[in-house]
Parts: sequence; C-alpha cells; structure tokens
Amino acid sequence: MLGFVSSAALLLAIAPALASSSASRPNIVHILIDDFGWNQVGYHNDPSFLEVSTPNIDSLKNEGIELDRFYVHKICSPSRTSIQSGRSPIHVNVQNVHPEVVNEEDPLGGFQGMALNMTSVGDVLKDAGYKTSFVGKWDVGMATRAHTPHERGYDEFLGYYHHSNDYWQQTEQKCSLKKIKDLWIYNETFDGPAVHLANDPACGQDNQELEKGKRCQYEEEILLGAVLDKLDEQAAAEDEDPLFMFYSTHLTHMPLQVPQEYIDKFGDITNEYRQSMRAMSYYVDMEVGAVVDKLKSTGLWDNTLLVLHSDNGGEIMTQFCGSNNHPLRGGKFSNFDGGIRVNALVSGGFVPSSRRGVKEERLVAGEDWLRTYASVAGVGDRWTTDSRAVEAGLPDFDSVDQWPMLSGESAADATARSEVWIGDTTSIEFNGDGDTLVGGLLRDDGWKVVLGAENKMYKICQDVTTPAEYPDGKFTPRVPELKCRKCGRTPEDGCLFNVRDDEAEENNMAEEQADIFDEMIARIDELQESVYSPTRGKTDKRACKAAKNDYGGYWGPFL
Ligand SMILES: *[C@@H]1O[C@H](CO)[C@@H](O)[C@H](O)[C@H]1NC(C)=O
Ligand SMILES: *[C@@H]1O[C@H](CO)[C@@H](O)[C@H](O)[C@H]1NC(C)=O
Repeated sequence: MLGFVSSAALLLAIAPALASSSASRPNIVHILIDDFGWNQVGYHNDPSFLEVSTPNIDSLKNEGIELDRFYVHKICSPSRTSIQSGRSPIHVNVQNVHPEVVNEEDPLGGFQGMALNMTSVGDVLKDAGYKTSFVGKWDVGMATRAHTPHERGYDEFLGYYHHSNDYWQQTEQKCSLKKIKDLWIYNETFDGPAVHLANDPACGQDNQELEKGKRCQYEEEILLGAVLDKLDEQAAAEDEDPLFMFYSTHLTHMPLQVPQEYIDKFGDITNEYRQSMRAMSYYVDMEVGAVVDKLKSTGLWDNTLLVLHSDNGGEIMTQFCGSNNHPLRGGKFSNFDGGIRVNALVSGGFVPSSRRGVKEERLVAGEDWLRTYASVAGVGDRWTTDSRAVEAGLPDFDSVDQWPMLSGESAADATARSEVWIGDTTSIEFNGDGDTLVGGLLRDDGWKVVLGAENKMYKICQDVTTPAEYPDGKFTPRVPELKCRKCGRTPEDGCLFNVRDDEAEENNMAEEQADIFDEMIARIDELQESVYSPTRGKTDKRACKAAKNDYGGYWGPFL
C-alpha cells in the first residue's frame, strides 16, 4: 500500500523555498469554473476542431503548469465545500442539499455545506495577512452568517448562495409561488441583498435588449466587473498586503443562457444545446482573458499565483446542459473520470520559470489548495492541523501541500498525494440528504476502483463516452440515470480500471487483477470507518420567511 509519501522529506526540501517566498507573498487569484466539461477547453481538443475556442485559457496553460490529474467531487456543493475546508469530501460533505435545510439536533453539521468550527481557506489566508474577496457562486452554506463567506474568512462578498440562479433574473427556487432572487453584497459599508443590481423584470434569454436604450445586464458581467474593480483597488493600494481573490463563475452551469452575440459566433452549430454550451465556454474564456489583462496592465501579474479549474465534470444531460467530457467516461453526478477529473492549471508570474509549460501528471485534489496556499503565504507550519475543528470532534484537514511539487522544489518523482478518496452518498434524490459513502479510490499508480452504493444495487451510472460533437440529439436527456452498470465488491462484479493506461475506463481489470481489487476494497472499507456523515435536515420554513419578510424577495441567512 502506498502511504502518504515521505512528507517529512518534503518539508525539509521546501524549507528554503518557504523562507524566500514568504518575503514576497504573491496575490492568489483562484478561478473556479462551474461544470466546465473536459472537452469544453480548447487544449483538450484536436486543434483542427475549431468548434471549441478558449484561447485565453489555452495560453494560461501554455505559460503555466497544466494539472493533468486533478480530481474533485462529482457535484457542486461537496466539491466547493472540499475546496473551502481543505477536507476530502468524505470528511466534510458529499450531499448536494439546498442551503435552506436545517437539522437542529446537530448544531455544527446539521446544515448545508461546511460544518461550523472548521477552518476555511479564507480564514487561513486572512490569518496570513491577506485581503480576501469572494465573488460568484458560494454553495457552501447559508443558514446563519457563520455559514456564509462573511464569517468564512472573506472580507468581501458579491455572489449567490445556491447551486445556480437565472443569469438574467438572478432567481432560484420559490417560496409559495414566488420566485426568489439570489444575489448578495457584503463589504465594509453594505451587507444585504443586491437589489440595485437587479434587471428589469422583462429581461431574459429571449429578451436581452430593452427599449429606450436600457439594456439587460448578464449576471457574469456583474461578477466580472466586481473582480476587475477589486484588482484595480489592489493595484492602487498603499499597503503591502497581498490579495486572495476567489472568483467563482456561474458559467458554465445551466441554465443555457448567454448573450445572443456569443451564440451568434457559433452559428454553424445546429444542435442548440451544444451551440449554447460552446458559446458559454467562449464567454467564460473571455472573462479569464479580462482578468489576465487586468493583472498584466496593473503590474500585479508578476507577483500573482493564478489557479483555474472546474468544480466537477460537465453535465451531459442534453436538454438542460449539453456539456461534454470527451474522451472521458460519464460526467457530473458520476464517479467515472468524466465527473471527477477536471480541467485545471496553475499560472501567473509567481510560477517559477523552470516550471512553465510543464504538464504535471502527479495527483492533486480540490482539498489541496488550503495547505498549498498556506505554504505560499508563509504560514504552512501554522496550518498542519485544524485544532479548532479537532477539539469540536470534527475531521481534520486532508489537504496536502502541493507547493514543493508545483514550484519544482521537490524531486520529480516525489508525490505528495498517493491517493484520492472518492465520495458518494446513499441519497436516492440527486440533491437529497443521505449517508456518506466512500464510492471509490484512485491511487497514484493509476489504479481506480469505483464502488456503487449497496442501497442503489451498486449501480454506477453514465457508463458512456460522448463523442467530440456531443450533444447531437442521439442521447436521452435523463443522463444521471443513463446506462448504469453494477460496480460491486467482488472481482466478479467489481470495477477496476487503470486510468493512466486507459483514460476512457474501457478495460475492467477487476477479475484479472483480483489482488489489487481486493486490496483497494479493503482500503475503501478502512476509509469508510473515518467518514463524516451528519444529517443535514429538512427544508426550514424560516428560510422563506426571511426571504419574504427581511430581504424583500432575496435569499439570505435565516437563523
Ligand atoms: C459596498 O457595496 C455598496 C453596494 O454595492 C457600494 O455602494 C459601496 O460603494 C461598497 N463599499 C465599498 C467600501 O466597496
Ligand atoms: C465552536 O467554536 C466556537 C467559537 O469559536 C466555540 O465557542 C464553541 O465552543 C465551539 N464548539 C465546539 C463544539 O467545540
């Protein structure tokens, strides 16, 4: 069994690097793109396939480090909770419940998202003297202020709390029959619903221009504007404190909405879902380009570490999403690689020149940013453990410091992460509450077991690989339940792949490599003993009451 390889040796190796980098702590810009399918980025396509166009992301990759084996959870809220908390999803959250749920019997974990008393990456960087700002989709909890960015270490927030909202009306979910808006601003002088950023009620995907010269504002424009303003402010600041900007785009999550001029650029694509998704990917690439241009024109670039990745694979449900993870198997909601191995890169002037243009094959997981950033910020030693959480009886960090690998300080064969623990749930509903399961294991040597949930007959779904020109109208829209196969606990009915040799997970080796399979199931059983599995509770009526009575039709903290 591979252990967590020689972390002591790594610590020794990094000591001099830490000393020098803490002298010039970089700005950290973390761009998290929503449901950004493997094949929605230009560099994962044949250059002759002109339909996919992301020139800005492609050049960031070329100037930086491509993380080719970067893993996250298969759905939004758990993946985001893992990133914020520095824990594997199995130790923080595998439930994609809505933020209105409460279980009063569990005052720490009986909510959506990250348990109270867990330290977040925002807390860590704030503690290191960073200015901290969060823009965009949160999806890590809303029940009390302590669940929101305000008390998770972020000085400022402009964004929404739910999994998604309407790009033109900012609405998400209803109370009785009334649609509720989801957009909040928190800064030094203001804390409340972003009413002044609402569009005219007539605005929508089919009505993007109003009469009398009034135009509708696409939500991404508002979010991008806030990010660019913050970068200007940072460039003009008199103090030396660096900035941590967490920019969490709504794109490319559904609904399929984007300004018409972007759709028009993809006029040759006849399938409307694929056309919208390609246009949305192009739009998000334009946003990334605007951030990079701003960093360069303000002079911030040289001392900035820029990280960009998706929160999970693209959602391949044709009639709502139309994303694509070709040539990987499956997509969002599935533990095949199309759901959990995602587009990722590290770039910016802070990346050592010797590391630029490198394609990094070592494993990195979403939970690793917390300790990686702590290390870059010069406070790595302070955050080896989350004592506040441990004292409260909660799981500790699982985050691995990847800076020695990223900076090139560690040996080319030194892997900081030997395993990725793959999360799953017993919940039958996609966004329901359930028990935490270890749904698989990936090892650095490429062996990967996916294990279905016993209460779901060991079924793993989306056992499909979509072609580069997907969706093309041939697949059923009910993709989360599409083409399930049994992935059980024995070599005879189990699923074992070597994803380093077989990236599309075509060759099931469970019978042929029964010893490896059994060893990995034993490791999964061992990990299962360590899971964190609070009951998140049920929708609480007070959420709607607060939306109606306190916030004028907007979601916000309700307890
Ligand atoms: C805070 O947000 C409000 C509302 O958008 C804005 O008017 C104000 O200028 C902001 N304050 C600061 C200090 O950024
Ligand atoms: C959680 O943290 C709060 C504030 O830091 C503290 O007062 C409380 O005792 C902690 N809860 C537990 C169960 O440790």
